Amino acid sequence: MAPRLPLLVAVLAICLLPARGCVLCDPKVKKELDNLRTAYLPDHLDQQHHESFMLRVKQAVKEFNDLEIDENSFMGVIDQHTLEKVSWSLIKDIKRMTESAVKGELFVKEFFWMLKIQKDIYARHMARFQKEVFCPNKCGTMLQTLIWCQTCEKQVHSCHKSVFCGERLVKVHRLEDLVLNCELSWHQAAEGLTKYSFYRVWKNNTESLVSEGKEPTLSKPRVGPEDEGKYRCVLGSVQKTPATILSFTVKVLPERLEEETLPTSADNLTVAHFHDATKTK
Ligand SMILES: *[C@@H]1O[C@H](CO)[C@@H](O)[C@H](O)[C@H]1NC(C)=O
Repeated sequence: MAPRLPLLVAVLAICLLPARGCVLCDPKVKKELDNLRTAYLPDHLDQQHHESFMLRVKQAVKEFNDLEIDENSFMGVIDQHTLEKVSWSLIKDIKRMTESAVKGELFVKEFFWMLKIQKDIYARHMARFQKEVFCPNKCGTMLQTLIWCQTCEKQVHSCHKSVFCGERLVKVHRLEDLVLNCELSWHQAAEGLTKYSFYRVWKNNTESLVSEGKEPTLSKPRVGPEDEGKYRCVLGSVQKTPATILSFTVKVLPERLEEETLPTSADNLTVAHFHDATKTK
């Protein structure tokens, strides 16, 4: 959670540029292609075809990026994890081809067929990356390190969404524990987060700091009527804009009565089930 990234925050400005195939950003893929040229082609393809073959291969790999530029398919960026997956898939197939020792025209044909299949695999991985990894925050600001396929540079991308992440109503019975949780699902994956600050917001619209730290929760044992009211959580980031702002309205209900804490019908069901199980033994 400590600030661990350069304050350089990049803006996605990629859309109109023809992206280099993202997989070529992985040095392992480059090495595998070099290896193909120097170690495999000499014994398996006429010398005169080497150069044009390699050019066509590089072109085909670049064409992996012929995807619709769209938040659902491709934005010209990839993360390290997805890059590892797509490049591993491609390298595995290149190795499989070179191990089969197929030669000449058949080799060329099979190689491009393999690349066509890899292109589909790549598109699927990219769609998944866009859906699940790229800017998963629905509100607030999330920083994530991405690789720009155009230049293969790693930069920090800032996913800006609406500043406020909403308001939550929290009901708690008198003398029980109040817990306000400010953590959102994407916080774990976000970079450049600093700390969670909880404020009590008074009726006169001033606020006072209640707690501050790496813990995403504010806890208060044995609440009383004086704890009712508005609270605010601000998750800071290395940028000027906070990562998340959440509001809470706390309502303190009367003390819970004894019988409400007796086993619920769900507990009774579990007990009945247990008895059945012992009978069948
Ligand atoms: C606002 O209300 C709080 C709590 O009632 C109080 O402590 C504080 O002094 C008030 N501030 C102003 C500026 O009136």
